Amino acid sequence: MSADPRRNAAVSIIENFRRPLPIADHARGKRLAVTCQLKCANACTNPECNTSSNQTFQEVASAALSRRALLGLGAAGAVALAVGAARSQAPLSAPGSAGVGGAGAAFGRPAGGSLPFDAIAPVNRYVDDLVVPSGYTWQPIIRWGDPLFSNAPVFDIDAQSPAAQALQFGYNSDYLDIVADPSGKTGVLVNNHEYCNPGIMFPPTTDPAELRRRGDIFKAAQGMSVVEVTRRRTGTPWSYVVDGKRNRRITVETVFELTGPAAGSDLVKTAADPEGRWVRGTLGNCAGGTTPWGTILSGEENFNGYFAWAADTPAQKRYQSTSSTSTETGWEKYDPRFDAHNPDYVNEPNRFGYIVEIDPQDPTSTPRKHTAMGRFKHEGANVIVAEDGRVVAYMGDDERNDYLYKFVSKNRISGSRKKNLDLLSEGDLYVAKFRGNSPVGEITGTGALPADGLFDGSGDWVALTRNGESAVPGFTTEEVLVHTRLAADAVGATKMDRPEDVEPNPRTGKVYLALTNNSARSAATVDETNPVTGNRYGHVVELTETAGQAGTTFGWSILLLCGDPAVFANSYFGGFPKELVSPISCPDNVAFDSAGNLWISTDGAPSTIGYNDGLFLVPLEGAERGHVQQFLAVPREAETCGPVIHDRDGLVFVAVQHPGEGGTFAAPTSLFPDYGSTAPGDVSSAPRPAVVQVYRA
Ligand code: FEO
Ligand code: CA
Ligand code: CA
Repeated sequence: MSADPRRNAAVSIIENFRRPLPIADHARGKRLAVTCQLKCANACTNPECNTSSNQTFQEVASAALSRRALLGLGAAGAVALAVGAARSQAPLSAPGSAGVGGAGAAFGRPAGGSLPFDAIAPVNRYVDDLVVPSGYTWQPIIRWGDPLFSNAPVFDIDAQSPAAQALQFGYNSDYLDIVADPSGKTGVLVNNHEYCNPGIMFPPTTDPAELRRRGDIFKAAQGMSVVEVTRRRTGTPWSYVVDGKRNRRITVETVFELTGPAAGSDLVKTAADPEGRWVRGTLGNCAGGTTPWGTILSGEENFNGYFAWAADTPAQKRYQSTSSTSTETGWEKYDPRFDAHNPDYVNEPNRFGYIVEIDPQDPTSTPRKHTAMGRFKHEGANVIVAEDGRVVAYMGDDERNDYLYKFVSKNRISGSRKKNLDLLSEGDLYVAKFRGNSPVGEITGTGALPADGLFDGSGDWVALTRNGESAVPGFTTEEVLVHTRLAADAVGATKMDRPEDVEPNPRTGKVYLALTNNSARSAATVDETNPVTGNRYGHVVELTETAGQAGTTFGWSILLLCGDPAVFANSYFGGFPKELVSPISCPDNVAFDSAGNLWISTDGAPSTIGYNDGLFLVPLEGAERGHVQQFLAVPREAETCGPVIHDRDGLVFVAVQHPGEGGTFAAPTSLFPDYGSTAPGDVSSAPRPAVVQVYRA
């Protein structure tokens, strides 16, 4: 062994190739245990949050649940960069080789795109490489720690500080968009930073002062980044701009304004904000969406994990079933607002779990949290303009057996950007109730298709607010918007298999819902919309609005029942021959190209089908409908996030989140993205979450 721990680490990576991971898989066989612990506070191993009795398609008698009993209201009232050399990657096996576990035949894409490719072969889960199709290459645009401003130091993993991190690109990239200016040669890149991994960002320590200093680094490393990008001409790769006029970091200390009916309510007041209108920070920023008026929406997802959690009331238990006295970041030890047991801050968790909106064009603007869109573990929000000009946002609540929502604005989109900035502050919130059209006895839990050949049916959007006021008996408007999960329980919403990204296809208006998996889907609760017991590989639902985009009725069918067809015989790919598709598991984020093809990124393939996560193209029309083809694979232990498909530009972008998640500081399991020297002090041997662009070599 060398005296240099990083050199030894590189050796150990090679030794670990194709070896079992050093850390046990998640108890339920999905993500790494460390990912579950850091990212979602072990949501899948804790007791279920949703203990409501509204099952599947049964019409739940809207029994007048006692508001006080339901909410547990006590006497107190309120419940309480261009970087490095471009790397050319060949597939690990010959492209174009048909067969299960291989790639489909060369793909003739519908007109409109310019990204022809031969699907890559699936990549073994222990391979630490980003793999793109033959003829393509990739390059990071910006990595964790890259300076956004010239007064920030060059990233040094051994000399991190809160002040430096607040001026550098954040950690664990998720939602991504690249919004080009009219010239096509400049633009802004916006990216979420979902959470931190102390075990690979730092060497071990037990020193309280150092732990606190690191806590402040985590606060600065989370949130969002806005950074200007530039290129020589359209169709060429982007580079980021240090000191760009629009460059901005949003962190756990940035002030947000609460908007909508719950702003100013008792449910969101704290000692530090007695008016209930101003919140410091955003947490668990996962997926998101870009609005037609050019702002960025970001979903506050697993916010509960940042609080010493009080699970004293049903309302609190509905967002995390168990109490806790400490967190992974340790903020609660010195910042009282992260201790929900503290009477002064019992409402602080009620100030997270929203859709936040930022204006990437104005770095001085105050970002906002929209209470009208409800409070839950928001994966993200994607907006489309309805036929009458109102805007509709589709949103998933990523928890086992939680729900699908949509928001319809009160006002119509206009030519005034200033007015459009208020569209998401006023409107009505709906939750989905699905019905199947096949006999219950034909839904066996195996994923076998019913006799009519489709998992399909109809559904209703059930109002939680109407004309901006509560539509749920026993709930005030503020209660609907803060304790949204309880309100949705009360109207009998359909329990879903972890709703992740949900996005309307801009070409057709049809809506695509990624349901990532659900270890808690039992044989007793399978239904036609969630038809697989223990749903290990996840599925994708295609939803068609039948009374207009803002209407309250829809039809639906399952587009994909994911899995490796060689292992899961009942996997389903829109009727396409399954022996020709790429294996896919745990769909998470969705996107569309200019031709209206669906692209899906995954989070959970390694421990479910044995391959690294990836990005997949799925045509939706004609003979190619359901032909899943893998475009890229991310490195070891990473999740593929934020896909952006600029096919007319010949560019695909992904955020590579948590590469090498299962490693340690001294012994990383990934060297992405630089794969460089292991000389002492050289950070190129540390895994760094990054935004990557893929283009023709
Ligand atoms: Fe952060 Fe639901 O994925
Ligand atoms: Ca059916
Ligand atoms: Ca996600």
